[in-house]
Amino acid sequence: MKQFVVCITGASGTIYGIRLMQYLSKENIVHLIVSDNGYIVLDRELGIKKSDFIKSLPENVKLYNNKDISAPLASGSRLVEMEGVIVAPCSMGTLSSIANGTAGNLIHRVCDVALKERKKLFLLLREMPYSLIHIKNMEQVTLAGGIVSSASPGFYHYPKTVEDMINFVVGKILDSFGIEHSLYKKWMKGEKINENI
Ligand SMILES: Cc1cc2nc3c(=O)[nH]c(=O)nc-3n(C[C@H](O)[C@H](O)[C@H](O)COP(=O)(O)O)c2cc1C
Repeated sequence: MKQFVVCITGASGTIYGIRLMQYLSKENIVHLIVSDNGYIVLDRELGIKKSDFIKSLPENVKLYNNKDISAPLASGSRLVEMEGVIVAPCSMGTLSSIANGTAGNLIHRVCDVALKERKKLFLLLREMPYSLIHIKNMEQVTLAGGIVSSASPGFYHYPKTVEDMINFVVGKILDSFGIEHSLYKKWMKGEKINENI
């Protein structure tokens, strides 16, 4: 089975990380790290307590303590075994730590290692609007090889529910890793092209 690292931080949109973890863990091993603030937002937004969340995790999910800087994933020798690292949602605080290489907790360290090992790093950011500091940090991560993305659902697939909008954003992350899915209908997929030429 392929292995992915999914990190959930204290930005709004915990549901994105949860949906991604649930989808990936159907056929892959998911190494999951949740920040302390991620657990707070999980409770505030979804009414899910940390203890209940931990009990509900699917079989293929391995949960790590964000303070455990000695976890295997903190080493490049183990992180290279992963397909990549996804932080969803990613707070501006975590973005800043990644951009500046502070590596003070396991999430920051794993992202730092992903960049140094040239593994795929995808940050699903959530803030509005952005300050110049946020934008400079996004630039820095992009220059270092990471992918930064806002959690911005499209409307060309005619979403009818919030679930549809969540699935679009999660589907776009899966697209970035080349993972087949049917979470949203891709633009003109299955439709005839060149009809108007
Ligand atoms: C309900 C709630 C929603 C938040 N939403 C955001 C957000 O969308 N983006 C953001 O950057 N920070 C947000 N924050 C603030 C972060 O949680 C805070 O900056 C924290 O230090 C991030 O820490 P972490 O990245 O280690 O999880 C939110 C906080 C709360 C309580």
